[in-house]
Amino acid sequence: MNNIINSVNLIYYSPTGTSRKIARAIGDGLKVNNLCESDITKENNNIESFPDDSLTVFVSPVYGGRIPSIFFERLGVLNANGAMCVIVAVYGNRHYDDALLELKNEMMKRGFRVAAAASFIGEHSFSRENMPVAAGRPDFYDLSMAEHFGKEIMDKIVTVPDFGELFVPGNYPYKEVKPKQPVAPISTENCCSCGLCISSCPTHAISLDALGNVCTDIDKCTLCCACVKVCPHGARVFDTPFTKFLYDNFSERRNPEFYF
Ligand SMILES: Cc1cc2nc3c(=O)[nH]c(=O)nc-3n(C[C@H](O)[C@H](O)[C@H](O)COP(=O)(O)O)c2cc1C
Repeated sequence: MNNIINSVNLIYYSPTGTSRKIARAIGDGLKVNNLCESDITKENNNIESFPDDSLTVFVSPVYGGRIPSIFFERLGVLNANGAMCVIVAVYGNRHYDDALLELKNEMMKRGFRVAAAASFIGEHSFSRENMPVAAGRPDFYDLSMAEHFGKEIMDKIVTVPDFGELFVPGNYPYKEVKPKQPVAPISTENCCSCGLCISSCPTHAISLDALGNVCTDIDKCTLCCACVKVCPHGARVFDTPFTKFLYDNFSERRNPEFYF
C-alpha cells in the first residue's frame, strides 16, 4: 500500500532566518493544505503528535559541523512511532560535516522513518559586508531547489511504499564539539539601546544594565549572531578572525545536496 500524507509539520531552529526560509520553501513544494509550523528558535516545540499520515520536516543550522545542542533541547521528548520525516541541514558554505548524520540518527532514535535529507547553504552567521561568506543565501536558485525538493519528497513517499534506511554522509564518532571561547558580540557607540538585539536572542543572553547599556552574558551566548543581523544601526558586531579565514577559504559557491 502506498503512503498518504495528509499533514505536514515544519520544525526549525533559525536565529538568523536562513533555515526558516529553506523550511518554508520546502513546505511550499510539498503542496499540502494542512501545514503546521513550529519555530523552536526562541520557544520549545509545540507539535507533539505525529500521526502515520503526517510528514515532519526538521531544519537546523550547522554549528561546528554538528547540530547545535539547543535544537534537540527545544524539541523536547518526541515519540514518532514510525511516522515519516525529512531532515535538512543549513550551513554557511564551509561544510556540514556530521550534522546530517547526527540529525538522522537522532530522529531515528525518536521513532521517525527518515524519507529524505538535504543540505542547503545559508549566509554565514559570521559573514560581514567587507568579508561576505555566502552573503544573500539562500538566494532565488536555492529557494527554487528547496521547493523542488519538497515536490520530489512527496513523489518518493507516494510511489515508494516501503523504503529502507537512508544514506547520508558523515562520520561517527561525530566531530568533537569544541568548548565555546569566552567571546560574544558587543554593542558599539552607535547603539541606541532600542532592545531589538535583546528580543532577537534565542538564549536570553542580552539585557540592559542599570545604566541602560546593553550587556551580554558570555556564558549564555551561542554566537548565533541574530543580534548582529537584526541591529538596524550596525551597532552590534562580532569581530572574529574566523570570518577572514572563512572568506579566504570558503568563498567558492557550494550547492545544495539531496538524498533520497
Ligand atoms: C557558532 C556557529 C558555528 C557555525 N558552524 C558552521 C560550520 O561548521 N559550517 C558551516 O558551513 N557553517 C557554520 N555556521 C554557519 C551557519 O550554519 C549558517 O550561517 C546558517 O545559515 C545559519 O542558520 P540560521 O540563519 O537559520 O540561523 C556556523 C554558525 C555559527 C553561529
